[in-house]
Amino acid sequence: MVVFSAMTTMAEDGSRLWLRYEKVQKACVTGVECIAAQELRNYYDGERANLVIDTTMAQDAYHIEGTTISAKDEIGLLYGAYALMRGEEGYSAPQWQLRILNHWDNLDGSIERGYAGQSIFWEKGDHTERIKEYARANASIGINATVLNNVNASPKMLSAAYIKQVKKIAAILRPYGIKVFLSVNFASPMALGGLKTADPLDAQVAAWWNAKAKEIYKQIPDFGGFLVKANSEGQPGPGDYHRTHAEGANMLADAVKPYGGIIMWRSFVYGANHKGEDRVKQAVSEFVNDDGKFRDNVILQSKNGPLDFQPREPYAPIFDNMKRTPQMAELQITQEYLGQSRHLVYLAPMWQEFFRFVKPNRLKGIAGVANIGLDKNWCGHHFSQANWYAFGRLAWNPDLTSEEIAKEWLTQTFHLPTTKRDAVLSMMLRSREACVDYMMPLGLHHIFKFDHHYGPEPDGFKAEYPIEWCPVYYHQADSLGVGFNRSHTGTNATAQYAEPYRSLYDDVKTCPEEYLLWFHHVPWTYRLKNGHTLWENIQEHYHHGVSEVEDFLRIWQEVKTDFDEQRWQETQERLLHQLENAREWQKVCLDYFRSFAEKS
Ligand code: GCU
Repeated sequence: MVVFSAMTTMAEDGSRLWLRYEKVQKACVTGVECIAAQELRNYYDGERANLVIDTTMAQDAYHIEGTTISAKDEIGLLYGAYALMRGEEGYSAPQWQLRILNHWDNLDGSIERGYAGQSIFWEKGDHTERIKEYARANASIGINATVLNNVNASPKMLSAAYIKQVKKIAAILRPYGIKVFLSVNFASPMALGGLKTADPLDAQVAAWWNAKAKEIYKQIPDFGGFLVKANSEGQPGPGDYHRTHAEGANMLADAVKPYGGIIMWRSFVYGANHKGEDRVKQAVSEFVNDDGKFRDNVILQSKNGPLDFQPREPYAPIFDNMKRTPQMAELQITQEYLGQSRHLVYLAPMWQEFFRFVKPNRLKGIAGVANIGLDKNWCGHHFSQANWYAFGRLAWNPDLTSEEIAKEWLTQTFHLPTTKRDAVLSMMLRSREACVDYMMPLGLHHIFKFDHHYGPEPDGFKAEYPIEWCPVYYHQADSLGVGFNRSHTGTNATAQYAEPYRSLYDDVKTCPEEYLLWFHHVPWTYRLKNGHTLWENIQEHYHHGVSEVEDFLRIWQEVKTDFDEQRWQETQERLLHQLENAREWQKVCLDYFRSFAEKS
C-alpha cells in the first residue's frame, strides 16, 4: 500500500495526478536495480520488496507473490511495482501488446480538440520534467506507446530538425517502456522531398519513404512506426492517384518493415468517393475491397462508432467486415463531444459498452486520443484525469469494471472516507448516461454546434457545408417523427452488421431504445416500452439528464469537507457550468423538437 498523508505539504492542484504518493523511503528493495526499485524505495509503505527477472514470462506481464515481483524485464517489473503499490497480488498480463495514446498535437504547440492547454511535446520551452512525469504516469497504468503529433499531420514533422526533437523525447520515454510513433502526411515526399508526386506506386516515392525510415531508425532504433490519416477531411492519400488504401499503406509498411515498424492506417474516411451515401456506411464501403490485401505490419485503426466519437453510438460495423485485416480500436479520451474539459463525464462505461459488441480478442491493439496538455492539472478538469487512467487500465485489462477502475482512481487521487468515496463514485458512474440524456438521448446524434462541437444546435444547417456536417441531416425531424432511417427501408446501414445485430437493429420493435433514433425514423406518437410516447420519452430523458447534474451538485456539497479546498472548488465551478449547459441543451433541443412534435 501507498501512504497518503491527510496533511499533505504539497499543493493539491491536481498536478500529481493519481500518483500522489508521499516519499516514505522505508522499504528495503533487493534484486534488480532499476526504476521500479527506485519507485518502491521512495514510495512503497512495506518493509521490503524483491525484484526478480524471469525471462520465461510473457512480455509486460508480472507476478506478485508476497512482496516479490517477477517479470521478464525491467519494464514488467515497473508495471509490477505500481501494481504492488495499488495493492494487487498474483499474475497479470495485458490484453494487448499495443496500448497507445494518440496526441493530436500540432507543431506550433496547439492541440486539435485539446482542452487542457498547449502541447507538452511541441510548445516552446523545455518540458523535460513534464514529459518524464507523463512517462511515469503512463507506466503506472501500463500505456506503452504514444503518437506525438496530430493525425492532421504537418509534413515538417519528418524534417531533420524535428526528428532530432523526437529522438530527445524518445530518450525520456524509453526507460518507462514507452515507444514513440509519428503521424505522417501522405504527401510528405512532395512537401518535404520536392518530388512531383506522392503516388505510392512511384519508385521515387517509395525510395523517399525508405530513406526517411532509415534516417529515423538510425536516430531512434526502437521507433514504433507511422499513423496515417489519408484521403480524409482534406488530407492527401493514395486515392489522389487512384490507388487503394492497401497500396498506400503497404508502401509505407515496406519502408518500416526491416526495422520492425508498423503502420496504423485509419478508416475514418468519408466524403469524396461516396457522395450521397449515408456517412456511417462509408468506411465499410471504402475499405471492404482492401480486406486481406494489407501487409502483415499494417493495422487498420477505427473509431469505436461509425460516425465520430458521439456520446453514444452503436459499434462500428467495420469491425465485422474486415475479416482478414488486423484491426485496432480508437477511443477518444479527450471529450470533444462530451462536454470537453467542462463536464464531469467518466468514459469507462462508454468504452465497456463497445467491448460488449467488439470482443477484445478480435483486436490487435487499442488507441486513445489523449486529453493531456500543459495545464497544471494535465486534463483541464480534475475528473478528466480519471479518463486517462481508465483508458490505460482498460487497455491492460478490458474485463475490469468501470466501478473497479473508478474506485482505484478515487482511492489514489483523493483521500476520502469510504462512504464519501462511494458517493463520488456513484456520480462518476452515472455521469456518462446523464450526458447522453441531456445532450442526445434515444439514439439522437451530432446535433452539436458547428466546428467546436460544444453546445446544442439541432437546427444547424449551412448550404456551403457538406451535408454530413449538418445536424439537420442526422435527426431528420419532421411533422411525422424524428430519427434517421437506416433500416432496409432507409439507407440499409443495418445490413453492414453481423447477426444478431443486423436483424435486431433493423426492426423498430427490437432495436434497443438507446439506438432507436440512430436506426429509425419514429413517429412522435409511437409508444416505447414504458407505454409513453416517443415525444414524452424524449422530454423525460432531457429532464432526467438535468436532474442528474443537479444531484451531482448535491453530492458535491455533501463531500465538501472531505476534499482539499482547491480541487473541490475548481470542480464545483465546473459542475455549476455543467448544470447551466445541461439546461441549455434541454431547452434548445426541446423547443426545437416541440415545433415538430406538437404540430403532429
Ligand atoms: C473529428 C474531429 C477532428 C479530427 C477528426 C479525425 O472529426 O472533429 O478534429 O481531425 O475527427 O479523427 O481525424
